[in-house]
Amino acid sequence: MQQALYHPEYGYYSSGRCQIGRKGDYFTNVSVGPLFGHLLAAQFSEIWERLDKINDFVIVEQGAHDGQFARDVLEFAQKRLPEFFEALRYWILEPFPVLEEQQRRRLKGFGDKVEWRESEQPFTGIHFSNELLDAMPVRLISDGTEKLVDVQGNNFVFVERPADKAMFNQAALKMIDQMAANLQRGYVIAIDYGFLDEQLEKNVQVRALHRNLDSPFEQIGDADITMSLNWRSIIERAQTNGFRVAGFTDQYHFLTGILSQFESGDGAKSFLADSRKAKRELQTLLHPEMLGRAFQALALAKNVEPETNPLAGFRFARPVNAALSDG
Ligand SMILES: C[S@@+](CC[C@H](N)C(=O)[O-])C[C@H]1O[C@@H](n2cnc3c(N)ncnc32)[C@H](O)[C@@H]1O
Repeated sequence: MQQALYHPEYGYYSSGRCQIGRKGDYFTNVSVGPLFGHLLAAQFSEIWERLDKINDFVIVEQGAHDGQFARDVLEFAQKRLPEFFEALRYWILEPFPVLEEQQRRRLKGFGDKVEWRESEQPFTGIHFSNELLDAMPVRLISDGTEKLVDVQGNNFVFVERPADKAMFNQAALKMIDQMAANLQRGYVIAIDYGFLDEQLEKNVQVRALHRNLDSPFEQIGDADITMSLNWRSIIERAQTNGFRVAGFTDQYHFLTGILSQFESGDGAKSFLADSRKAKRELQTLLHPEMLGRAFQALALAKNVEPETNPLAGFRFARPVNAALSDG
């Protein structure tokens, strides 16, 4: 999975071959349209207000792909939340030069508001990611056995060996450690798809051109490979790192919370002002058979007083402890 996605020349992501959206391999929240970024911009701005409207408030995005989410957030903030826009700095953490190039092209209108970093530096603000953790390489460990990839003749095959004690999702957990090391004060918001517990799918999903492929050995370097998250292990690792869980809910409740808190009824200010298109996007993002139930949002807080009122995105969520104890 590491090589298929991240080999410098042939990797699906690192080579820049990954295409997201109708003409690509799969949809994400971002590819549905700009509404997702607009709603998140409103959530980010609420967090900025709660953190005393500090100057040089940093949004760090990791897994920014072609920069479309950043553009949706920045355009909305510039137009509708000018005071927040003024205080805001946007950092993109991007290890792949080909993607950085695409991002720079898409974001050139924002000048030095946006900066690129190869690794995180200490900051106060928000670390945001959409479908980053599910793209972290996993090991196929199940019932004490691990599947590994070998070569037979000209073909890749799976072989099995007894598993060691390592977690199957070590790379995703390491990413949580890095977030904890660099966020001085603020929130991590991670949106992704997965399960709290054992319903966890034990197999990777392989997709190209909106089709599920039967094997990760098909179309290597031209297909996406992901595995649904085990949220509980992510949350436990976050807590070990000193994060507090500030909210966890499905995307339907998360986005509905933001929408209801900020939708003013004033046509000019409405998220849905410009139309039927935005309403269709909302339906795709919220509908339980589309993206509304499959995706979840997690907010982790660091060095922030516990919220008296939950963040906008979690106002309709079940209390965190109940959600975590029932699964
Ligand atoms: C499933 S795509 C999601 C893209 C985008 N966030 C969206 O929702 O449309 C996962 C992205 O994570 C990126 N990625 C993987 N490892 C990364 C890392 N260590 N730092 C930053 N981005 C990374 C990949 O290059 C890819 O663009």
